[in-house]
Amino acid sequence: MHNAVFSSMGINGVYVPMQVREVEQAITGLKALGFRGASVTVPHKETVMAYLDYVDPIADQIGAVNTLVCEKGQDGITTLVKGLNTDWLGALRALEQVMSPKGSHIVIMGAGGSAKAVGYGLKKAGAQITIANRTEKKGQQLAQWLDADFILPETVADIKHADVLINTTSVGMEPDYNSIVINPELLPKFKTVMDIVYAPLETRLLREATRAGCKTIDGLSMLLYQGAAQFEAWTGKTPPLEVMRAALMQALSTAKK
Ligand code: ATR
Repeated sequence: MHNAVFSSMGINGVYVPMQVREVEQAITGLKALGFRGASVTVPHKETVMAYLDYVDPIADQIGAVNTLVCEKGQDGITTLVKGLNTDWLGALRALEQVMSPKGSHIVIMGAGGSAKAVGYGLKKAGAQITIANRTEKKGQQLAQWLDADFILPETVADIKHADVLINTTSVGMEPDYNSIVINPELLPKFKTVMDIVYAPLETRLLREATRAGCKTIDGLSMLLYQGAAQFEAWTGKTPPLEVMRAALMQALSTAKK
């Protein structure tokens, strides 16, 4: 998606995948080679923070960095690497396309790093959050951090109705096409169902949610909006979302073949 926008906006840039094992050395390498920035993905989002010159306060609170921006220091020579988190913004913007989170009740399935970023964004936007997680301790910890409620997934059945259900677990991700994080009979309780899984794009959760009459938001949406925020951080320019979305769709359909 970044390369598509570089081309469409006439920016002389390229985005390349790199497998990194030595995180500290990779940061030194970014500086030495004059990179403008980088994305950071699993499993380095937390580890990388120790090697940065500056971590943005929100990324610091979430405890994970997914975006690096290289900038010149005050002397105009030294390069400083700054860490940001755009995952929370990606989730928030994706949801905002369909509804206003302020004052709504949102049930988040899962309590890992993704749930933390998603929950942070929605809390900031004024949502009331319930964390549902199979491991109670982890779920309780996140709920406390977010000032949210905690329930075990079995007790989602006791909720009368809520505005949104968000799956932040990997349940339903290929090759487990048939897995679903919640009993589908409970889906009519929710007006909107969002999945952060994007392969497949239409997970069983989203298929069943459509059948239950819910609005749905697929995982591509969060990926797109967090990517757009990264692009802005690197270039200071607003990217054309439709170009990014088309490139993502293309990449996902190529990956399938
Ligand atoms: P990420 O950083 O992508 O969020 P993670 O930190 O490993 O990944 O967290 C994954 C979350 O999905 C966890 O909350 C996990 O539940 P546990 O805390 O009980 O481990 C949840 N998860 C993963 N696979 C699951 C499954 N098959 N059923 C229910 N929850 C699952």
